[in-house]
Amino acid sequence: MDVIHTPVLLEEVTANIIKDDTELLVDATVGGAGHSYHILEKHRDIRLIGIDMDEVALEVAREKLSGFKERVRLIRGNFKDLKGLLQGHGIYGFDAIIFDLGISTFQIMGRRGFSFHDDVFMDMRMDIREKTTGYDVVNFYDFKRLLSIIRDYGEERKAHKIAKAIVEARKIKPINTSYELGHIVSRVKRKTGKIHPATKTFQAIRIEVNRELENLREGLLGAIEMLNKGGRIGVISFHSLEDRIVKNTFKDSPSLVVITKKPITPGREEIARNPNARSAKLRVAEKL
Ligand SMILES: C[S@@+](CC[C@H](N)C(=O)[O-])C[C@H]1O[C@@H](n2cnc3c(N)ncnc32)[C@H](O)[C@@H]1O
Repeated sequence: MDVIHTPVLLEEVTANIIKDDTELLVDATVGGAGHSYHILEKHRDIRLIGIDMDEVALEVAREKLSGFKERVRLIRGNFKDLKGLLQGHGIYGFDAIIFDLGISTFQIMGRRGFSFHDDVFMDMRMDIREKTTGYDVVNFYDFKRLLSIIRDYGEERKAHKIAKAIVEARKIKPINTSYELGHIVSRVKRKTGKIHPATKTFQAIRIEVNRELENLREGLLGAIEMLNKGGRIGVISFHSLEDRIVKNTFKDSPSLVVITKKPITPGREEIARNPNARSAKLRVAEKL
């Protein structure tokens, strides 16, 4: 895989979740392994469990982390099942955990329907073992359900117009590709600046297909339960729906103390180098 995913807030994550006595780190979204690689390089005594539900991502991680040999164990699975996944490997606690939410550059570039440029089947599944694809959501959900997904998961002000345009378009023929969907949205929403008009619609459908918010809620609870005393949890989110879940889960958990009263965000220099980092927010908490 030639495309490289640039990890966001790399130094900030490392400095905030790794302590002097950290021995076992879980990377719940190992992806291109940018964070994991950096931490393993910098902290020679740390061992890593890397999790990802995407087999392509896990292959990238496997290659990138191969030099660390037995310090690394990779597991394919959904972090919503964190407890079962780890206990299945004989792990009952860990000292630090990182969640870097969303998808990575090579998934977007992988012609799997995540990009509006993809003139291919609108798949959008991170885990191809799951049944529902983007095609199913766009072609079979009724108007009301489509509207609420685009409005609530995309935080899209033009949700009504867009849902209507989708329903009208699919009466003529099925909407097969992400490129077609992008085009349908562009007809009813004007472009502002550099952002594609269908960005929020795509976010919404991806969240629905991959059940991203449910996964996050369950994954965080599992992580908090399994985190060792004094251990740190760090979550990088990329939109307000995710960030709200992280913030409230941390605040409401009686067994956590929040380390980041305000989220850590990338500086101007990082955003200039990696525009994908622009909406990233890192929140960190410690287990009491
Ligand atoms: C932003 S990328 C992580 C990038 C990684 N930190 C790096 O530095 O390369 C997010 C990864 O999380 C994975 N992912 C998203 N939701 C997941 C879930 N519920 N369970 C497991 N993996 C998930 C995606 O497949 C993707 O590979």
